[in-house]
Amino acid sequence: MRGKFITLEGLDGAGKSTHLSWLRRFLERRGIRVKVTREPGGTALGERLRELVLKGGKRLHCETETLLVFAARREHLDKVIAPALKAGIWVLCDRFTDATYAYQAGGSGVAWSKVAALERWVQHGTQPDLTLLFDVDPTVGRARSRRKKRPDRFESEQLAFFRRVREAYLRRAEEIPRRMRVINANGDLPQVRRQIEALLSAFYSRVSRHV
Ligand code: TMP
Repeated sequence: MRGKFITLEGLDGAGKSTHLSWLRRFLERRGIRVKVTREPGGTALGERLRELVLKGGKRLHCETETLLVFAARREHLDKVIAPALKAGIWVLCDRFTDATYAYQAGGSGVAWSKVAALERWVQHGTQPDLTLLFDVDPTVGRARSRRKKRPDRFESEQLAFFRRVREAYLRRAEEIPRRMRVINANGDLPQVRRQIEALLSAFYSRVSRHV
């Protein structure tokens, strides 16, 4: 049986990476094989493109950024995601195309329709089966991510940028409510974990009924 494709999204500092290893264990305890990966990245080329986008020094044009993350995505789908799903492995991906809608369209002003066109072109209909959106107040997220020693290109953005990113994420969640589930990530770790556990348990029992 084809594996399931789960993505994690949210503002910088929303805490999604903290929950990834817990999610992996949740699935592995149920005998599921899991591949953990991330975007931009996940392949040798993807990781190089990530460096260019996040640490490239001079600020790139926002459409260049969009094209680079989709170039990385094309390789990632071809070399990692599609083969894993085909082999029955579940893919847990730290960010995917919803991040392009949020950051490049919402945050930087790239036309929503251009992102949608690239999404169709690159993904050929492949979509996550479940997306967990860690929704955090932009002031909280920004404060958390700025604790890091060297903030990257996005972590250095102003609050207004993160407000636009959050709005775009919520717009996506409203458009695709069945796939994209919003988790209130403002609370402490146990509160957030309880929400993830409830969502994942429901998803797992829904899909395992079809095995
Ligand atoms: P993270 O993987 O450390 O969370 O951060 C990756 C950064 O890349 C994050 O600030 C969001 C940004 N990003 C985009 O701008 N567009 C994208 O399509 C993706 C996948 C990430």
